[in-house]
Amino acid sequence: MILCIADVLTAKDLDAINSLLHTANFVDGKTTAGWHARLVKHNTQLQDDGSAAVQHLKTLISQALQRNSLFQMAVLPKVIREALFSRYDSGMSYGTHVDNAVMGKSELMRSDVSLTLFLSQPETYDGGELVIESSQGEQGYKLAAGSMIVYPSTTLHRVEPVTAGSRLAAVTWVQSLVRDSAQREILFDLDTARQMLFEKSGKNAEFDLISKTYANLLRQWAAL
Ligand code: NI
Repeated sequence: MILCIADVLTAKDLDAINSLLHTANFVDGKTTAGWHARLVKHNTQLQDDGSAAVQHLKTLISQALQRNSLFQMAVLPKVIREALFSRYDSGMSYGTHVDNAVMGKSELMRSDVSLTLFLSQPETYDGGELVIESSQGEQGYKLAAGSMIVYPSTTLHRVEPVTAGSRLAAVTWVQSLVRDSAQREILFDLDTARQMLFEKSGKNAEFDLISKTYANLLRQWAAL
């Protein structure tokens, strides 16, 4: 399931992030790519110098993900990796690749869901679409600043060349409580349906049965 979520960042957070990134030091992005992805990765990434400013940037992203109920419902995060901040200037791109399946050094995690949180307004740069391949074909995404796309880490995807301006984004990966994307989608649909039912009719017998089914499916499928 591919899901676009609007307004993940408040206007205040977006301004704070962009002004911190404006003066920050960006380095070659190849350092955080796997050996084959490195061959096609041509972008820059915020240098993690351990400073309070970089930590604050990561915290703003992680807090935004924690408070976003749609993200929580759809992704069921178990582990959320610290965000990376990427910048594509004119001429930069990230060719077709699959993200590393296992990430981390001492603390390992499996990547189930990849996410890109767009930080630049789409009219300020040309190109730079995130293109995701699926059995239905390719689909390109270029979202408003503050909006996010979440997609299965199992996919081949790329970032089209930026031909003018700069594209800033935060990217990260999630290990879900539910590894299988089809199972996650069933749980998301069921959770959405029971919330719709609750809004319409309150906590009645139907709501209780659907809640029981949701909880018991999650018990079946969650890997802790
Ligand atoms: Ni990727």
